[in-house]
Amino acid sequence: MAENNSSEAVLKVKGLSKQYKKGVYASQDVSFEVGRGEIFALIGPNGAGKTTTIRMISTLLKATEGDAIVDGHSILTEPEKVRQYITYLPDEAGAYKTMTGLGYLRFMAQIYTDSKEKAEEYVELGREICELGDRINDKIGTYSRGMARKLLLARAIMSRPSLAILDEPTSGLDIINALEIRRMIKKLAAQGMSFLLSSHNMLEIEYVSDRVGIIAKGHLLETGTPAELKEKYQKQNLEEVFEKVVTSREIS
Ligand SMILES: Nc1ncnc2c1ncn2[C@@H]1O[C@H](COP(=O)(O)OP(=O)(O)OP(=O)(O)O)[C@@H](O)[C@H]1O
Ligand SMILES: [Mg+2]
Repeated sequence: MAENNSSEAVLKVKGLSKQYKKGVYASQDVSFEVGRGEIFALIGPNGAGKTTTIRMISTLLKATEGDAIVDGHSILTEPEKVRQYITYLPDEAGAYKTMTGLGYLRFMAQIYTDSKEKAEEYVELGREICELGDRINDKIGTYSRGMARKLLLARAIMSRPSLAILDEPTSGLDIINALEIRRMIKKLAAQGMSFLLSSHNMLEIEYVSDRVGIIAKGHLLETGTPAELKEKYQKQNLEEVFEKVVTSREIS
């Protein structure tokens, strides 16, 4: 967990841009902040630049321009420090198929901490989050897609990082499992953990997020609480807000 002042933002994103190809921006001048204990979701359609932005903040992809500060540390100059404060769940992640679920959680817990007690604590929280019951002793290769996803989510959350970065956390989960994961995220946020999520399912994200950022064609067009945005655009839900935001601005 972080030792910094609680009023400070956990994440400050400052003008992040990415050009995979010269002159073509996948993400352009993206700036936003995530407070301690806050759940912030980047929402936008396929290809909007969510994963690109998230991967830059996760220190896995080099930014073309801009910077992001995680708990006071720059992704550009102190990426190894940043990695101590974050966990990252990729959108399409695999796990070691021949390991058992429990073996995987234990293996990852040892990577996150040198303390045996802490590792056990992480594994216990991980077990609680993934809710695999006895199946946790089975090999991951025998899990359904949703079961494997829950295990990976548990891995990303169990060490209670300052900031958990989850790219489409509930992708592939059924309604009940998705609801449980959302409740778990809210519970941990109430305890002070911060979350950066991404989703193209705007209705789903309306429930879980404190604030959202609407991203389209690499541009972050709006940020605010779902209630603020619905009020501002006089719409019933975030999907309708999104449509309004995108059509009311010309983005090339
Ligand atoms: N490795 C890459 N090389 C070249 N272009 C890329 C690469 N990764 C992504 N892009 C492009 O960058 C843009 C943004 O992609 P990104 O994966 O960030 O979108 P996304 O918002 O996460 O979409 P989705 O909802 O489909 O996951 C797209 O036009 C995509 O084709
Ligand atoms: Mg993506």
